[in-house]
Amino acid sequence: MSAENIYPEFGRMLGRSAKERLLGQRGCVVWLYGISGSGKSTLANLLERHLHGQGKLTQLLDGDNVRTGLNSGLGFSDDDRRENIRRVGEVARLFVSSGVITICSFITPARSLRSLARQIIGEDDFLEVYVKCSFEKCAERDVKGLYAKAKDGGVKHFTGKDSAFEEPGEADLIIDTEAETEAESLARLIALVESRIVAGE
Ligand code: ADX
Repeated sequence: MSAENIYPEFGRMLGRSAKERLLGQRGCVVWLYGISGSGKSTLANLLERHLHGQGKLTQLLDGDNVRTGLNSGLGFSDDDRRENIRRVGEVARLFVSSGVITICSFITPARSLRSLARQIIGEDDFLEVYVKCSFEKCAERDVKGLYAKAKDGGVKHFTGKDSAFEEPGEADLIIDTEAETEAESLARLIALVESRIVAGE
């Protein structure tokens, strides 16, 4: 749909730097991606609690949550996943424009979807973190029971089974939750994020 008769006007709006000064932090997006059960949500929650404990204002956007609200009408076809990521990218951009450290946790299965998010949010504000874990290990964990359900054909377009997950070409960080302990993974994630938010202050 075209933006006919729409007149965006951002010049009058209070700027990002004024808000970042108020908060005493630099906004950014930490985009965690990987297959279901890889540990994205666990790490996202731990990271958010850590940053909150450091006096930082954060916002967590998580696939399962967002899909019950903003994106409740979307399914798991390629087009719907793209629209899911596009909308979340736009929402994350708004949070960053208010100086908020925004943690996104979405499967984001295709490289093109990761690029889309990066493009919407902007290179300087985007940290791409691949939460890596094999399909077999995630199926063994099966926290939500989805792998068992998918095996019996009960989940359409299940990522890693009938819908592809593309390994990253590049990522700012790869966290292997099969090889590392939760504490090790969290420490590496915190180190990356803190290097970024401190550098901007
Ligand atoms: S994404 O592909 O569009 O990025 P998103 O992260 O929002 O996916 O949602 C993934 C969550 O939806 C999973 O953690 C899982 O709980 C649930 N889910 C339901 N159906 C599927 C499916 N077909 N494939 C993957 N995840 C699914």
